[in-house]
Amino acid sequence: MRNFDYHNPTKVVFGKGTISRLKNLVPPQGKIMLVTGGDSIRKNGVHAQVMESLKKRDVVEFSGIKPNPEYDTLMEAVDMVKREDPAFLLAVGGGSIMDGTKFIAAASKYTAGDPWEICSKLAKVLEALPLGVVVTLPATGSETNNIGVVSRKSERKKIVFHADKLFPQFAVMDPEVTFSLPDNQVRNGIVDAFIHVLEQYLTYPVDAPLQDRQAEAVLLTLLEVGPKTLRQKDDYDARASFMWCANQALNGLLKCGVPTDFATHRIGHELTVQYGLAHAEAIAVVLCCLLRRQKEDKQEKLLQFAQRVWNLDTTSPDLAINQAIAETECFFNGLGMPTRLTDYGIDVKEASEYAKAGLERDQAKLGERGLIGPAEAVEIIRASA
Ligand code: NZQ
Ligand code: ZN
Repeated sequence: MRNFDYHNPTKVVFGKGTISRLKNLVPPQGKIMLVTGGDSIRKNGVHAQVMESLKKRDVVEFSGIKPNPEYDTLMEAVDMVKREDPAFLLAVGGGSIMDGTKFIAAASKYTAGDPWEICSKLAKVLEALPLGVVVTLPATGSETNNIGVVSRKSERKKIVFHADKLFPQFAVMDPEVTFSLPDNQVRNGIVDAFIHVLEQYLTYPVDAPLQDRQAEAVLLTLLEVGPKTLRQKDDYDARASFMWCANQALNGLLKCGVPTDFATHRIGHELTVQYGLAHAEAIAVVLCCLLRRQKEDKQEKLLQFAQRVWNLDTTSPDLAINQAIAETECFFNGLGMPTRLTDYGIDVKEASEYAKAGLERDQAKLGERGLIGPAEAVEIIRASA
């Protein structure tokens, strides 16, 4: 096992009715700035629950952050921070809102230059406004990690940044608020969480059996509760397990002491920037093509995945690996998630050229061994026809 640091300071408040506890979770003094997206939280009553709990507080709101949060919109929120001087930011929404709030928290205090540098140069975030979150969509794990992803259409970029100052102070996770999610968002969440685990698990062995089994536990639970929670959205226990799985998939625990991949994510971001695919849609297209291309590099872990997650006979390793990848694709398709770029009417040749340009610009060498560069990304995307 490799050396690692593990630190997760976010307090999780999980379960029914927990939004009412916000009043005791936010700091006792100062203005609170809610950061929100579209109408969903007004329609499902989450906004009203938040306002009820904070009724004795001075609250202002910045709303209108869209999926794949856009830099220009977030900078409007930074202007609002400068006008209103809140003591605390409260994100209410899915990954886009939580990530956007992390950027606002950092950019509001960034004095070294243009705030875009937080993404473009991964500039150090030395100071940030404190933040908390109310999660409405289980998927990204953003509620208890220090990561954010921001897009800038004018530059055709979608960039990941991270900083310890950006861990939320608390994450309120009430599974009931997710009952209003449309099926495609539930499907996206299951697939995103599943792929987060695979990006930290399907690499090469470093004798870390606990991390392997923790990853397998999340995968097996998602296989069990994913289809169930999609079929029956008001099954509280299935939704609660799904929500906790999505959290555990990217809260920093699974990557302790092991190599990670994340090439699927990096290439997927190029597809989102170019074609507007939802995050999970984009990575679902990349994953299986990448695994097929990298199956020799990932052989040992793929075999373990075949045996322990898919319960396959591994006497013939190549067959078992092919089957495990096919099962994974089948699982996604069964949730209603397409896995081919052509399912979206996208030309794979064109898409591969865009991805190549994006990776060349960053001189990217991706994957657990740094073996996936622009040329390999082209092969991966072309295989998604
Ligand atoms: O706009 P509103 O009305 O809020 O509707 C949202 C949005 O349209 C809707 N929604 C959210 N909660 C709902 C709901 N609708 C009904 N009922 C509810 N309870 O869902 C739509 C999608 O929301 P979004 O926040 O975009 O989804 P998600 O949570 O999947 O976040 C995706 C973003 O997170 C980034 C992605 O790249 C993408 O930008 N990621 C962040 C990560 C992180 N911080 O660690 C890791 C991930 O790999 C990912 O990259
Ligand atoms: Zn993801």
